[in-house]
Amino acid sequence: SEKPHFVVVANRLPVDRIVAENGDVAWGTSPGGLVTALEPVMRSQGGAWVGWHGAPDEEVAPFEHDGYDVVPVPLSALEVEEYYEGFSNSTLWPLYHDTVAFPEFHREWWDAYRTVNRRFAETTAELAAEGATVWVQDYQLQLVPKMLRELRPDLRIGFFLHIPFPPTEIFSQLPWRREILEGLTGADLVGLQVSGAASNFLRLARTYLGHRVEKGAVHLPDGRTCRAHAYPIAIDTQGFADLAASPEVIAEAEAMLDDLGHPDLLLLGVDRLDYTKGLRQRLQALGELFAEGQLDPSKVVFLQVATPSRERVEEYRKLRDDIDLLVGRINSEFSGLRRSPIVYRHAGFPRHTMAAMYRIADVMVVTPLRDGMNLVAKEYVACRPDDTGALVLSEFAGAAKELRQAYQVNPYDLNGMKDVIMQAATDSPSASRRRMRSLKRQVAGHTIDMWADAFLGDLAGPDA
Ligand code: G6P
Repeated sequence: SEKPHFVVVANRLPVDRIVAENGDVAWGTSPGGLVTALEPVMRSQGGAWVGWHGAPDEEVAPFEHDGYDVVPVPLSALEVEEYYEGFSNSTLWPLYHDTVAFPEFHREWWDAYRTVNRRFAETTAELAAEGATVWVQDYQLQLVPKMLRELRPDLRIGFFLHIPFPPTEIFSQLPWRREILEGLTGADLVGLQVSGAASNFLRLARTYLGHRVEKGAVHLPDGRTCRAHAYPIAIDTQGFADLAASPEVIAEAEAMLDDLGHPDLLLLGVDRLDYTKGLRQRLQALGELFAEGQLDPSKVVFLQVATPSRERVEEYRKLRDDIDLLVGRINSEFSGLRRSPIVYRHAGFPRHTMAAMYRIADVMVVTPLRDGMNLVAKEYVACRPDDTGALVLSEFAGAAKELRQAYQVNPYDLNGMKDVIMQAATDSPSASRRRMRSLKRQVAGHTIDMWADAFLGDLAGPDA
């Protein structure tokens, strides 16, 4: 068939190959905001998605899915350990998230990162049509733009970083900071979530590469430019709203309320189980509110969904144990004989179940210590059937720059967070409606299509 003119390159494919103990193979939806956001873009654009299928040591042939080509890139078990769990998720992930966990630096991990980035670049170089647009995604593939340009100078290359780009003081720790910056400046356009991240990137390119930086672009010695700009990522707002308003989801939401015993107040948290999400602090704040009787544990339920993530990485195992312990401690203290104030599920759920949860939650609690954007906050707003409901949102999530009317908190300030959660739970209907109306306007007016159009429009447009 014809070669694709539009190619997305991401560490993960939108679907994961799951092999059960008995050898049965199934495909599941991959976790995380990147897939949520890009799947609808691919469905409408068509083309190809290059990525890893999630199963180590397995080769999978390309196939078609939802109207586009899925092109699996294999990783060996050792590469999963060194490139994915190691350099991507134990070096870059904590480093780029304010070092809320200690980044580890290992030279073998870096070697594996380079090797795997080269494989992604080579796969893409063989695949893409002459003059195609290639859109590389996220921190796992920061070397791909430069490697790909060397192989295929005819391509238009964009890059989008879904997570924060750290300030100089933190980025400078990275022993391979120059190589990473050179990798990124191989793109014609680098997109970031917020304008602060774009300035961080531009400043670092000047500092460590010595290039001239002017009007939002790096001017490279070969005459090329690499522009950098903020494109806050969004969701398929209408898709979520329609889903939440469907009879099936309304019925599911009713059944859920029955199961939960129709609490007077339902608080909801939805996160990948990740130490950047501020779960420890959130549980501590809620535990104190129950202990002080500000929230009545017999009438209030806090439902927390924590999607399993990166389970072989040490920090994530520790986190899982910590959260189990914290939830158990609070529940053992405040449960009645028939129900517990915290309902905790360590599991992923399908989209329709998430929509049902958003529908019934009176207060959505999104309190990451650092987050590139946080799409869960936007999904909640999109799924509200009317102007009720309240969003508590960390000021350290990228979404806080747009969702100004959320009840914003500093998750490190426990007293402050407790006060704001109580305010969100008890505000007058008119005050909280005013906020929700403004949030809904924001989320309806900034959709994933607009995000993709803005980025791809700029990528296709004139260089700086
Ligand atoms: C975040 C990252 C994505 C990643 C997702 C899930 O949203 O920005 O790149 O895919 O988490 O994490 P995982 O390691 O399971 O792909």
